[in-house]
Amino acid sequence: MMQELLLFGALSVGLYFLLLMTVLKLPRCKSTAKLHRKTAIVTGANTGIGKTTAMDLARRGARVILACRDRGRAEAAIQEIVQETGNNQVIFMQLDLASLKSVRSFADNFLRSESRLDLLINNVDFNCLTTHRDLVLGSNSFQLFQNYSHSKLCNILFTYELAKRLQGSDVTCYSLHPGQYTSDFY
Ligand SMILES: NC(=O)c1ccc[n+]([C@@H]2O[C@H](COP(=O)([O-])OP(=O)(O)OC[C@H]3O[C@@H](n4cnc5c(N)ncnc54)[C@H](OP(=O)(O)O)[C@@H]3O)[C@@H](O)[C@H]2O)c1
Repeated sequence: MMQELLLFGALSVGLYFLLLMTVLKLPRCKSTAKLHRKTAIVTGANTGIGKTTAMDLARRGARVILACRDRGRAEAAIQEIVQETGNNQVIFMQLDLASLKSVRSFADNFLRSESRLDLLINNVDFNCLTTHRDLVLGSNSFQLFQNYSHSKLCNILFTYELAKRLQGSDVTCYSLHPGQYTSDFY
């Protein structure tokens, strides 16, 4: 019995690594594009995917605005990004996406202090959708998965509508799934 269990364990681990190296292996971005003289906003950039994105943009030379709700957390991230990339054009602007007042005040500040915007990365998901955390913590309720799916569908529909409204301008819109990433939330 013990031998069978060990064999089963070894086969499962083997299968997991096989899947990891084949089906689950996602392509890496190989772009060497530079972004000097470009300005980017990344929302929720003090941690997780937002921080990694801000780091990459800074490494490519962009001026990066970390649009975050907590100054302390944002400044800690900025310090890390500047240290890692050598780009000191990384700044904090206060934004709490749960408050439209804060969104308007962010937009005013941005328009007053910046002369251009080249990239806007809408990275935040509201914490009020506890779907992600519950899913990861083991709840397998179908309802939770449906909520998660609806939230992702909303992202896609929003992008379609934005693209439609901006038709004829030079602005292009994309929605994407970043793949699985170990972050504060997941
Ligand atoms: N991680 C994955 O595997 C994965 C997979 C698919 C999609 N995604 C999507 O990728 C995005 C980022 O995920 P993540 O895993 O990097 O999450 P995370 O580590 O939890 O980071 C979320 C960021 O959003 C900020 N935030 C939350 N509510 C905010 C608000 N009201 N105003 C301003 N900022 C707010 C957080 O700020 P605080 O630090 O102040 O809380 C934090 O900086 C989400 O939209 C998620 O759905 C992630």
